Amino acid sequence: MEVVIVEDAVAGGELIAGAVAELIARKPDALFGVATGSTPLPIYQALAAKVAAGEVDTSRLRVCQLDEYVGLPAGHPESYRAVLKREVLEPLRVPDSSFLGPDGSAEDLPAACAAYERQLADAGGVDLQLLGIGTDGHIGFNEPISSLASRTRIKTLTERTRVDNARFFNGLDEVPRHVITQGIGTILQARHLVLLATGAGKAEAVAATVEGPLSSLVPASALQLHPHATVVVDEAAAQQLK
Ligand code: F6R
Repeated sequence: MEVVIVEDAVAGGELIAGAVAELIARKPDALFGVATGSTPLPIYQALAAKVAAGEVDTSRLRVCQLDEYVGLPAGHPESYRAVLKREVLEPLRVPDSSFLGPDGSAEDLPAACAAYERQLADAGGVDLQLLGIGTDGHIGFNEPISSLASRTRIKTLTERTRVDNARFFNGLDEVPRHVITQGIGTILQARHLVLLATGAGKAEAVAATVEGPLSSLVPASALQLHPHATVVVDEAAAQQLK
């Protein structure tokens, strides 16, 4: 695992956008795994600027989703599919037809999870997967005590994650309780994992991920098992590293 400390979120976004741009130049039809939440927004903004400037050609790029809420009504603006359309697909000029994601409104959710695993495998696997980290150390929505070998499945959000995410909804009651998430085993199959963590609120989780023991109590510590994992942290998020 390589750890890169940058000054702030904007610098982290620029650095990672550069790595994604290099991947696309090398492999124009790469499968780019994206995360939602606040942390990756500077990455998407920096990439969008490169696309607008004609420095990056995304015409063959494919994009896939890490996780999705279960049970939000169709078209809900906070479904992760809707968020990614706004924050990633449109600014990067990637058509819906090049987007893969699990169906969080399926009647048969276990079948939807299995179907998404198959889609990812049929697409040749994820080339670069962006990750954020929860204050409790989750990646995707693999909350603490997730199996390190887990595959895409339904998970129940912890109260802490629901409170953390309530800022995107009109109050805690509206935050879904269940999600579909790529499993930790699924995430570990991506060829390159890039985790961005910014802000002092992530410092404890970052230290446990990078320096703590490998443990299902800190799902992000599974990155220690990956042959090509890059953890980019700003100075605030790095403050508990030894
Ligand atoms: C969402 C996801 C989550 C977030 C994490 C941090 O797709 O994968 O693991 O990355 O909850 O969220 P923010 O970035 O909003 O602090």
